[in-house]
Amino acid sequence: MNIQVIKTTPYSDQRPGTAGLRKRVKIFQQPHYLANFVQSIFDTLGDVKGKTLVLGGDGRYFCREAADIILRMAAANGFGRVIIGQGALLSTPGSSLIIRKNKALGGIILTASHNPGGPDGDFGLKYDASNGGLASEKMTEAFYKRSQTIESYRILEAPLTNIDALGVSQLGNMKVEVIDPVADYAVLMQSLFDFDLIHNLFQSGFRLHFDAMNGVTGPYAQEILERKIGAPAGTVVNQIPLPDFGGLHPDPNLTHAHDLVELMYGSNAADLGVATDGDGDRHMILGRRFYVGPSDSLAILTANARLVPGYRQGLVGVARSMVTSQALDYVARKLGIDYYKTPTGWKFFGNLLDAGRITFCGEESFGAGSDHVREKDGLWAVLLWLNILAVRRESVEQIVRKHWAEFGRSVYMRHDYEGIELKVADDLIAALRRSLPQLSNRSFGRYRVALADDFSYTDPVDGSVSSHQGIRIEFADGSRLAFRLSGTGTTGATLRVYLERYEPDPARHNDDTAAALAELKQIANEIAGISQRTGKEKPDVIV
Ligand code: G1P
Ligand code: ZN
Repeated sequence: MNIQVIKTTPYSDQRPGTAGLRKRVKIFQQPHYLANFVQSIFDTLGDVKGKTLVLGGDGRYFCREAADIILRMAAANGFGRVIIGQGALLSTPGSSLIIRKNKALGGIILTASHNPGGPDGDFGLKYDASNGGLASEKMTEAFYKRSQTIESYRILEAPLTNIDALGVSQLGNMKVEVIDPVADYAVLMQSLFDFDLIHNLFQSGFRLHFDAMNGVTGPYAQEILERKIGAPAGTVVNQIPLPDFGGLHPDPNLTHAHDLVELMYGSNAADLGVATDGDGDRHMILGRRFYVGPSDSLAILTANARLVPGYRQGLVGVARSMVTSQALDYVARKLGIDYYKTPTGWKFFGNLLDAGRITFCGEESFGAGSDHVREKDGLWAVLLWLNILAVRRESVEQIVRKHWAEFGRSVYMRHDYEGIELKVADDLIAALRRSLPQLSNRSFGRYRVALADDFSYTDPVDGSVSSHQGIRIEFADGSRLAFRLSGTGTTGATLRVYLERYEPDPARHNDDTAAALAELKQIANEIAGISQRTGKEKPDVIV
């Protein structure tokens, strides 16, 4: 066995963002770049002797090369075992499950989520801790600190490990266990959902169009939906994970999942249309000619959870990020369960899930999940919708409209202003922050400000405080605005403006969303000086 100690020097740009280290492939391909960061993780973890590491990714370009380097480094650093998905594939929720099930020390997930792939696209690496959830900020900061002083890394000299054949092999003193990425996940889904009932739904002629966008969810969806449940072959499209996602931008929203949107608004629309992202944690739901916003979807899943075997006992509590619409709160109040508002990012849900305070959680950015793993889970959300549809035997649109009639509609939109100069964006937020004291009780047309603050979160489990998590302006009638800068962008700054208005009157539930929010949009512009400061008259992306 030949362990090499390779001399290296630090790269200054290895500070992880909201979900790990995410950079252009070209950056990751620089000499020692990946190895430096991996060694920084291993050094931070401390004693890894004999421990188990989980490894896999979304199949994007550079995943296989990266997996080979990480395997040889894990062996050289003393890990006892690496569990790797066949072909280096594991979805983000799938990795979370494998980490938890095998009581691993943690896992490395090779993904840049919904960012484009290929040699000119993005690559990424994130570390999930032993609970199967994203490493804490404290931990990722320690990875970064270590990366700034690194002088060498350890790697085993060995031929390429075969990661395509299932089974156990030896790499130095370490075992490499190549597993079917889907098997355990399929068993878990079968324990939560009524597959027979969903089978009957398909038997009755129900049609699902599942666009996996050539990301990692394809094999999972095909196995579970087509083979286990018996949905017609061809239900899952773009089902083969491709290094460049077949040129698709695997981001399940109305802009990037345009083929799906076209189909679902066309004459041959399916009953349910869904898309998932590169690593399988995000999803979008469409009914026939009907878009279900992620905030509404989360509220509807919560209201109907008891129809599904895995959640028949009811939910202990729910959580949403602060900027997600308040639709969830109305449901939680009616159910008499606790609900929490967290900062943006899945890691804030982890403590609540671990402490058994919540069962469901979600964000407006096409993410929902439950306590079955510690990451958001696209396919889980689709199965939950299917199970509810199989019980209720109504259309997606009918279910949503009945929900609005019962709870009122939270008319909601997010406007993204992209590629703003960093200083302009920082100044805008700083000015907004300074103006907060003058805003209270001011009126803008029919909207009177009831609360204006900079959101600060005290974790109810460990008491840690996260401040500056977004400016929020709430009006007396329950409408509100929120402003924050994206923490995942790669070029310039992205200003996200969140608009929400409560509409109890069913006669107005058909109103055009943009029109219903037009006045709030103007107020947001007036308060924050968006067009004046950025020169942009309208947002670049509307979600
Ligand atoms: C975005 C989303 C956020 C999500 C994160 C990771 O972060 O807004 O909800 O958790 O991606 O998928 P942002 O760019 O807004 O910081
Ligand atoms: Zn993702």
